[in-house]
Amino acid sequence: MYRLVVLASGRGSNFQAILKAIDAGQLTAQVEALVSDQPQAKALELARERGIPARWVDPKAGPLSQSLLEEILPFQPDCVVLAGFMRMLQPVFIQGVGCPIVNIHPSLLPAFPGLQAQAQAVDYGVRFSGCTVHFVDEGLDSGAIIAQRVVPVLEEDDEAALSQRILKEEHALYPQVLQWLAQGRVHCQGRKVSILS
Ligand code: GRF
Repeated sequence: MYRLVVLASGRGSNFQAILKAIDAGQLTAQVEALVSDQPQAKALELARERGIPARWVDPKAGPLSQSLLEEILPFQPDCVVLAGFMRMLQPVFIQGVGCPIVNIHPSLLPAFPGLQAQAQAVDYGVRFSGCTVHFVDEGLDSGAIIAQRVVPVLEEDDEAALSQRILKEEHALYPQVLQWLAQGRVHCQGRKVSILS
């Protein structure tokens, strides 16, 4: 079974969508652990409720990369999944983890990387936005793009309304991409990613 370790800092709705897809048989993978940098993260609670090992890593306790690797490596992940993990990962972590790391971002990258991507899109006045699943590299939301979904930005949208519309697509897109990865269908050559049929 394809082994996932999920990293989340907050409410964990993407984590929940992944679990739902597993339950529904749409994602043939197993979540081995949920790791958070926030002791109060709702995602930790969700994991505990399901009997999934839930670990809090204290960012103040020492070098975060080291602590994360110590928690994650024993679970032998095939893929590390960032689901609202609000910290930049350092090269020593990315190289040390030894498997692909993927992230979901609420914009059509490379537009609006970083924090409050939905507010950035509303403020900029774009007519379309969406979400992106990408491999994680050492930059800010800069790794090779695996898949995107597009939503319209309506004139009356504020940050909350747009976030809601995008989130719905995130919950469909992330499990789908993880299933492609689990099936070994994601082929990556530099920045060029193709999904094999
Ligand atoms: C999502 O919007 C995701 O795109 C971004 O952080 C948010 C996490 O939401 N990286 P949730 O914790 O999965 O509900």
